[in-house]
Amino acid sequence: MKLYDGGKILIGLMVFVGIATFPFYYNIGKVNAKPELKTDTPAIQAWEKQYGKKECVESKEYMRSEHMQLLNNWRDSVVRDMNRQYVSMTSGRKFNMSLQNGCLECHSNKKQFCDQCHNYMAVKPYCFDCHIQPMEKEENKS
Ligand code: HEC
Ligand code: HEC
Ligand code: HEC
Repeated sequence: MKLYDGGKILIGLMVFVGIATFPFYYNIGKVNAKPELKTDTPAIQAWEKQYGKKECVESKEYMRSEHMQLLNNWRDSVVRDMNRQYVSMTSGRKFNMSLQNGCLECHSNKKQFCDQCHNYMAVKPYCFDCHIQPMEKEENKS
């Protein structure tokens, strides 16, 4: 009899604690999660090995605010002028002006990188209606 009641109380307590902390745990993983932008793909790691540091086409700050415009310019350059080579203003290095074979070669984790930030900012680029996404994929689906 005593044991039985004790068990009931214990279960009641566990349920209470579970309910009380549920929103807390829930928030950690989801609702307010800021995107964590990983730049540790195989291509970026190979680049870092070769050049000694991680680099984007231009500086991180520039990319953060100007990548949409940069992509527009790349498209115009390729489609109108048939020029596929971009020379970085930051490093002087040459890049293939391509969504798939440029940006997404390094950022092959598109879902976790591009998409996550776009979702967070509520932006929805329509580019991938036509452009093929990297074969990423299943392994990165979390
Ligand atoms: C209606 C289909 C379509 C949509 C939508 C589209 N593109 Fe394109 N894009 C093309 C085609 C076709 C080419 C020419 C492919 C080539 O010559 O390699 C191209 C070429 C490009 C290129 C240069 C070549 C390459 O390999 O990437 C860039 C950069 C580009 N588009 C960016 C964008 C961006 C950014 C968006 C979204 C804002 C976008 N495109 C949306 C069809 C599309
Ligand atoms: C050579 C590999 C490489 C290529 C190509 C590349 N990136 Fe990056 N990108 C990186 C690395 C590495 C970083 C992180 C840089 C840092 O931490 O300083 C980065 C950072 C960024 C950021 C800023 C992320 C943040 O933390 O705010 C954006 C946005 C971005 N890249 C978009 C693009 C787009 C769009 C393209 C194509 C036009 C592109 N990248 C091409 C390697 C690359
Ligand atoms: C740090 C956050 C962040 C990352 C990472 C990021 N973007 Fe964006 N992107 C944005 C924001 C914010 C906008 C909307 C900017 C605006 O409307 O002025 C945007 C807009 C765009 C647009 C223009 C969409 C349109 O309809 O005009 C394209 C194309 C684009 N991003 C491609 C990419 C690609 C490709 C990657 C990955 C290689 C990437 N972005 C990574 C934040 C990000």
